[in-house]
Amino acid sequence: MTTAAQARILGIETSCDETAAAVLRGDRAILAEAVFSQLDLHALYGGVVPEIAARAHVRKLDRMIAAVMAEADLTFAELDGIAVTAGPGLAGGLLVGLATAQALAVVHRLPLYPVNHLEAHALTARLTHDAAFPYLLLLISGGHCQLLVVEGVGRYRRLGTTIDDAVGEAFDKVAKMLGLGYPGGPAVERHAREGDPDRLPLPRPLLGQPGCHFSFSGLKTAVRHRILELGREAAEPRTVADLCAGFEAAVCAVLADRTRRAMRRFREAYAAPPVLVVAGGVAANRAIRAALEELAAAEGFSLLLPPLRLCGDNAVMVAWAGLERLAAGLPPAAVETVRIRTRWPLDPEAEPAPGAGVKA
Ligand code: KG4
Ligand code: ZN
Repeated sequence: MTTAAQARILGIETSCDETAAAVLRGDRAILAEAVFSQLDLHALYGGVVPEIAARAHVRKLDRMIAAVMAEADLTFAELDGIAVTAGPGLAGGLLVGLATAQALAVVHRLPLYPVNHLEAHALTARLTHDAAFPYLLLLISGGHCQLLVVEGVGRYRRLGTTIDDAVGEAFDKVAKMLGLGYPGGPAVERHAREGDPDRLPLPRPLLGQPGCHFSFSGLKTAVRHRILELGREAAEPRTVADLCAGFEAAVCAVLADRTRRAMRRFREAYAAPPVLVVAGGVAANRAIRAALEELAAAEGFSLLLPPLRLCGDNAVMVAWAGLERLAAGLPPAAVETVRIRTRWPLDPEAEPAPGAGVKA
């Protein structure tokens, strides 16, 4: 009988523009991992094109799975299960990953664990830092911007979410307006480092307002107006740097303000040691990391930041989420009946956030 610590799971991730596979053991050993980023395929279009993404997953996934299995030196019969992202994300990509996982599970008679992509981000800190439940999570990515309490595997309480754009989306759109290419986050960060954040100040939406929700569309529009006002000057390297620095400073201020409110709520509601975990692709941003470090120190929270390679999309986190389910004694799915879920909120009970484009 395999113990939870000995269990070995293959993880598969295809929900957006990264094709990824990994093999993990329950004792936290990463036996193999691979990520193929499709950035070059989408850069031409300034964003992810779903059909191109799905086709690239089809082309890459089988060989990538074979490669990680070879690196882990395992046969499929030696696995204890397969974990696959079943949502939320782009339908085409999710279907490629799920169909592949289902076929492998049927052929090799393996348990199948459909994983929520957000849950995989949320649980990464337990793999990297052995974080104990409950903890406060700031999830900042291209598709999401949420504050949640992670109470246990499958148990989440949402404190705040964006009422319009996700924070990564705002980075990407600002980069596009300034002609910095896709993905925008790393480019905006690079230019911001050379800029003066105070020369062209930008608004800080919802700063100081009650609640823990976020809003970024007004900030994005403010950048657009600034660019129009500046005219040709907006293309000058110094101005681009100052706009990026001003934008990044506004994002840092808003994230810190909303997170501070969530920290105080966490302290009121839970007797546990105060811990803040940050996850998602935007967590790679150094200015944001620094702002959150300062905030955590001021509020007496421990801050856990996953290593950069596990901030973005990857399959290590998916395999880990499967291992968490296995260790918690949660049953695998009935293989044939699993369906993708393009929308899949972690806290379905959460009250809808006010605003137009509400994101779960
Ligand atoms: O988690 P992720 O890899 O994919 C999603 O699940 O969305 O996040 C991708 C997002 C993109 O919007 C990208 O521009 C942003 O993360 N990002 C960054 C940085 N690196 C990636 N944003 C700001 N600063 C960065 N250094
Ligand atoms: Zn993600």
